[in-house]
Amino acid sequence: MESGSEKEALFPPWTNTVLRVVLACLVLGAAFTFTFLFIFVRSPLYTGQFEPVTQPIEFDHRHHVGDAGIDCRFCHSTVETAATAGFPSTEVCMGCHNQIWNQSPLLQSVRASFYSGRPLVWRRVHELPDFAYFNHSIHVNKGVGCVTCHGRIDQMPAVMQQSPLTMSWCLDCHRDPKPNLRPHDRITDLAWQPSDPQATGDRVATNNHLHTRTSCTTCHR
Ligand code: HEC
Ligand code: HEC
Ligand code: HEC
Ligand code: HEC
Ligand code: HEC
Repeated sequence: MESGSEKEALFPPWTNTVLRVVLACLVLGAAFTFTFLFIFVRSPLYTGQFEPVTQPIEFDHRHHVGDAGIDCRFCHSTVETAATAGFPSTEVCMGCHNQIWNQSPLLQSVRASFYSGRPLVWRRVHELPDFAYFNHSIHVNKGVGCVTCHGRIDQMPAVMQQSPLTMSWCLDCHRDPKPNLRPHDRITDLAWQPSDPQATGDRVATNNHLHTRTSCTTCHR
């Protein structure tokens, strides 16, 4: 019987080198892909942060909140009572705009919506995946203000997402919400800051019977 080594090799020796190079490429490629994804999912590019969203109607919070001084809850009227903040109906816009700027071409589609009964359609700026549960009312009622999560809406020509909205962002606050709390009468006051965050946080936390909520079922139900 002939021994195996004398037989002509099924693969010539140079294929070993090729194999090593291919393996090395695969390992490096995988490492690169993971590193890239790891960084990418945390970058604003992926989270959609800081990108102003243009709307079908040039609605400007700077005019309405900043100049006209309208409270957020006038338009986002379910923010204190429901999971969603809600968007204003055409009737809410027309409550003012049948009087002021009622000839403005910028408001043409608002008037069209009013007379046709077809609701306005806004492009979403913030949107969590379906498997994550969020609720506005509990945050607002426990003392977390709009500005903490949404930033200076009153200074944005078009609304953009200020916070990453990642799970670690939610959890960072849920582990220790106190520094982010404010009295109820300052919830929609975007410019207000506590002079003593520690004392304010302690006081609001006690008044509102605050809990830390970090179990998975809080947000995945
Ligand atoms: C006069 C009505 C009005 C007032 C007052 C108002 N908003 Fe809005 N808001 C809108 C409309 C209309 C949109 C949808 C168009 C857009 O995104 O600009 C919107 C969009 C938003 C969005 C983005 C929603 C999304 O798609 O994710 C946020 C956040 C927001 N408003 C926060 C606020 C805050 C905070 C205040 C108070 C400081 C406020 N708004 C006051 C009418 C209003
Ligand atoms: C409480 C009154 C009020 C409500 C409600 C209101 N607006 Fe206005 N809006 C104003 C005022 C005041 C101005 C002018 C602000 C300025 O020029 O500084 C204005 C200006 C505008 C302009 C700019 C018009 C132009 O020709 O420059 C647009 C567009 C507009 N509003 C859209 C809307 C939409 C859409 C809604 C409903 C989601 C809405 N507004 C609800 C008071 C209101
Ligand atoms: C703890 C953080 C947090 C606070 C505080 C907060 N929001 Fe939001 N807001 C979010 C998140 C997260 C979303 C996206 C929700 C989703 O996709 O289900 C959102 C979405 C919205 C939307 C889009 C419509 C909706 O309900 O999904 C509006 C409008 C809005 N917020 C307005 C406000 C206003 C006004 C306040 C203050 C009275 C406020 N938010 C306070 C985190 C917050
Ligand atoms: C800046 C602080 C802050 C951020 C950011 C925040 N939360 Fe909260 N969250 C709170 C506070 C405070 C409470 C109330 C805790 C309590 O029950 O006393 C709360 C409560 C909740 C509750 C209700 C818990 C229950 O059992 O009823 C849910 C759900 C929730 N948060 C989801 C989220 C999600 C999802 C995100 C991220 C998209 C988020 N939160 C971001 C502060 C925050
Ligand atoms: C305070 C709210 C909150 C809590 C508590 C929470 N999550 Fe999440 N989780 C989220 C949000 C919001 C997202 C979506 C974030 C995104 O798309 O970047 C998410 C995404 C995820 C995902 C999808 C993969 C990912 O990272 O995007 C998994 C898996 C997950 N959570 C598991 C868990 C487990 C397991 C726990 C308990 C140890 C937990 N979560 C607790 C809010 C929460």
